[in-house]
Amino acid sequence: MDFRSLIAARGALSGVIADALVVVVAGELKQQTLDKPLADALQDAVNQGDLQWKPGRVLYLHRLPGVKAPRVIVAVAADGTAKAIRTAVQAALGQAKGTGAKHVAVAYAGTGELGAEHAEVAVTSAADAVYTYRHTKPSAQPAPALQKLSVVCTKTESKAVQAGLARGEAIAEGVRLARECANRPANHATPTFLADQARQLGKQFGFKVEVLDRKAVEKLGMGSFLAVAQGSDEPLRFIVVRYEGAAKSQAPVVLVGKGITFDTGGISIKPSAEMDEMKFDMGGAASVLGTLRAIGELKPKVNLVGIIPACENMPSGRAVKPGDVVTSMSGQTIEILNTDAEGRLILCDALTYAERFKPAVVVDIATLTGACVIALGHHNSGLFTADDALAAELLAASRKALDPAWRMPLDDEYEEGLKSNFADMGNVGSRAGGAITAAMFLKKFTGKYRWAHLDIAGTAWKSGAAKGATGRPVPLLTHFVLSQARQPAA
Ligand code: BES
Ligand code: MN
Ligand code: ZN
Repeated sequence: MDFRSLIAARGALSGVIADALVVVVAGELKQQTLDKPLADALQDAVNQGDLQWKPGRVLYLHRLPGVKAPRVIVAVAADGTAKAIRTAVQAALGQAKGTGAKHVAVAYAGTGELGAEHAEVAVTSAADAVYTYRHTKPSAQPAPALQKLSVVCTKTESKAVQAGLARGEAIAEGVRLARECANRPANHATPTFLADQARQLGKQFGFKVEVLDRKAVEKLGMGSFLAVAQGSDEPLRFIVVRYEGAAKSQAPVVLVGKGITFDTGGISIKPSAEMDEMKFDMGGAASVLGTLRAIGELKPKVNLVGIIPACENMPSGRAVKPGDVVTSMSGQTIEILNTDAEGRLILCDALTYAERFKPAVVVDIATLTGACVIALGHHNSGLFTADDALAAELLAASRKALDPAWRMPLDDEYEEGLKSNFADMGNVGSRAGGAITAAMFLKKFTGKYRWAHLDIAGTAWKSGAAKGATGRPVPLLTHFVLSQARQPAA
């Protein structure tokens, strides 16, 4: 898809040339900056009760006299914020879907100026609207006609709008990659597949890519990761991708993504209902690949390392058993009381491995606990960190990206549950506060750097009729990495 800015004088929308003109209105009717044909039609529609002045409502006008675009879609936004504009653009694109419009121009008629954030959401909404999973279902209707999206702006707004378009396009491509990886079934999206995706990114963007196999992982002493992988016939992969956008002396941002390509639970096996959704258990890994893609496109002055421990969690004659004790790369021993708490077992060794990069900050991303879904539902990702400044930075990125996250507690008292009589720690606590004890477990491996954990179990995919990966939290992570650059890129 092609994204452009299209310069027009404020309110001069009747002359805009496109297959469909989306006019986003916000505030009061009389405050809209519109030339006569559009203003009259809008006033009339409201008078006749054909357009309710409520966020998300749309009005379709066909071949409006005096307007060059053959289709006009008016969409009501709550206000001029990026979030409100996103809702309105989504509704308008839903309306445009059934038409033959290939080129859609989005314009804003409310008060205030258009900024980068508005252009960014127009792009990401459009990209979301046209995404269709087809890899194992080529018969699925291909993406609708939409081929080009223009954001109509004034000359003074155009610089910011263009920066927003570039950012939106990079994030949209990252989200698309994450969705595409996570949507693939586990017999396609294997650890080896994830490694191949990383290598492909390496070729495309000049990243340094290292892929470690079982032997190399054994040499490093990753006893915890190996214990999870040992039950599967599918070979494990430990993937390391490096983007160097700043001087070597500058400490990197490190992202660690959980790459369980299928989670049966292992010997502590899960019930069969909805077990298919455990193919999405590599959503953290997918978000790391997606963020690397976005950053590769935007090239900010920052160093970034992506680390992905990838394997399946399977029951078998060789599988790890409840009560088994393993030695992690950190030297700490772990009693595996529940083989279904496997995410933390592969992450802990990756977090120890991260130390070698002397990171400025480490963020791990994982579909870690069902408890996080119970706590926060499907809207907010869970954010865990003992570092208030880092929490503020991540929450700011989350707000800018419109990719919500909510900070959860991490008091020392929650550690109690992880005690073991046979090892330095158990891998599970009690059911109560399950998302927090999981984070407390990870914390034991992160003493050497600034660290935060994102539990995306509720946000990485949708269940039910709309079942599929969301690509979250690629937008949050991309904004966060950009915020860590010396001079944030365009
Ligand atoms: N991958 C799951 C977490 C999960 C569950 C994500 C449901 C999305 C939806 C994870 O490996 C897991 O099984 N966690 C257990 C931990 C428990 C055994 C302490 C859980 O949440 O039940
Ligand atoms: Mn599990
Ligand atoms: Zn899991």
